[in-house]
Amino acid sequence: MRVAILISGRGSNMAALLRAAAAPGYPATIALVLSNRADAAGLAVAQAAGVPTAVVESRPFKSDRDGFERAMEAEFARHGIELVALAGFMRVLTEGFVERWRDRMVNIHPSLLPSFRGLDTHARALAAGVKLHGCTVHLVRPGVDEGPILAQAAVPVLPGDDEAALAARVLEQEHILYPAALAWLASGRVRIEADVAVAAVPGAQGALANPLPAPAPLPTTAA
Ligand code: GRF
Repeated sequence: MRVAILISGRGSNMAALLRAAAAPGYPATIALVLSNRADAAGLAVAQAAGVPTAVVESRPFKSDRDGFERAMEAEFARHGIELVALAGFMRVLTEGFVERWRDRMVNIHPSLLPSFRGLDTHARALAAGVKLHGCTVHLVRPGVDEGPILAQAAVPVLPGDDEAALAARVLEQEHILYPAALAWLASGRVRIEADVAVAAVPGAQGALANPLPAPAPLPTTAA
């Protein structure tokens, strides 16, 4: 499977995917890293790894989202792309584009969806007082951060966590989860039933949820 990774910035998930895909037997080839910003730091990382890169600036297409996406698809065609992986790609995609890539486009989102769609997920998780937070890899549907969930990793929210500490703990899991989920999809080990992702291999369901350590027992007296 020839994969395009779409980025807008740092590209740490992209780097994790590149590392995983370099291993023998990984079922996907990263054939293109495309950014909608020429100053995305991830582009240099991809170039250093010898992966073809492209820039399609979204700014000139502000009032022509379809034109922007068609320009990206011209790059996909040039590189024989079969699957698209969004990795910190900060553009909302049109319904037309999403449908053309239906079940062939994945995203990673830094929350346990369907909680905390959108931006600032870590701050909102802290404000809500959730005890578990995490990340999700999902197939892309027209609604922002919607679509069949392929894999999730949970992390505990710890006393004293601030946004940066929580984000770092989640990001560590993102870098493990995304390569695993992409491999699962690229090797045909998932099928979609009633818009839910299920394992197409017996016994594989649940392989893409991270096991958490059991919580410590609660103290018997109040602190
Ligand atoms: C990650 O937290 C990802 O979940 C979200 O955007 C961030 C991108 O970070 N979609 P990076 O560019 O992969 O480092």
